[in-house]
Amino acid sequence: MKQLRQSHERPDVRTMFDRVAKRYDLLNRMITFGFDSMWRRRVIEEADLSPGGRLLDVGAGTGDMAFTAHKKEPAARITAADFSYGMMKKGRSRPGGNQIPWCCTDALALPFADGTFDAVTSGYLIRNVVNPARAFQEQLRVLKPGGRVVCLETSPPKQNLLRPLIALHLKVTIPFLGRLVGGNQAAYTYLPDTTRNFMRPHEMVTTMREAGFESIRYELLMFGTMTIHSGRRPDTF
Ligand SMILES: C[S@@+](CC[C@H](N)C(=O)[O-])C[C@H]1O[C@@H](n2cnc3c(N)ncnc32)[C@H](O)[C@@H]1O
Repeated sequence: MKQLRQSHERPDVRTMFDRVAKRYDLLNRMITFGFDSMWRRRVIEEADLSPGGRLLDVGAGTGDMAFTAHKKEPAARITAADFSYGMMKKGRSRPGGNQIPWCCTDALALPFADGTFDAVTSGYLIRNVVNPARAFQEQLRVLKPGGRVVCLETSPPKQNLLRPLIALHLKVTIPFLGRLVGGNQAAYTYLPDTTRNFMRPHEMVTTMREAGFESIRYELLMFGTMTIHSGRRPDTF
């Protein structure tokens, strides 16, 4: 398969994550009411890692997903990749952070050979990239045949009774916490904006299918505001 070498990274997004890195973990816990740890465990279950298996977490940030994977399957070989030095520096300083290989790279041009990993995970990466289809193509390329892709993302709020409350959380609470705790309201206005304008779960299924994945399914969490998509790289193309 042809490798995608061209870089399409967004320096504005990278700089933003560099800036919020120090307070990112704390804010994440506050914004998700601590549920994000549970969702990450679910992602790692779906990745179905075996001892010695190779996992790539793309858009790894400060390493929450990689740490969760390490806890579940300590004998797995886990690589954390991100384009923000700030986020990875924070992750590396966490307990056990120096045992994880960190790779500074653009998710749209991964520096790994075809068929390297048994599973590829990502948490809240896809809505930040300029080309989600390309991100999934790259994840497919670096997966072994039969390898698993698992993606945790926010989903635009549905029309239901809870929508006004969710809208309040997105429009008011998150930017407020961003300013108060993170000292950066702009970054935490960006987050709700990207959530509202992001793909719906069925659109994500189409993007993943067009990238080449099969057996795609998704699970809605937190009143439909979070989604875990998973799929499989076919044995042959
Ligand atoms: C919202 S954070 C999520 C971090 C972590 N996965 C988590 O679940 O907490 C998104 C991460 O994706 C990274 N990112 C965004 N676009 C990227 C790209 N094109 N290549 C690599 N990393 C990217 C950012 O630097 C940031 O660390």
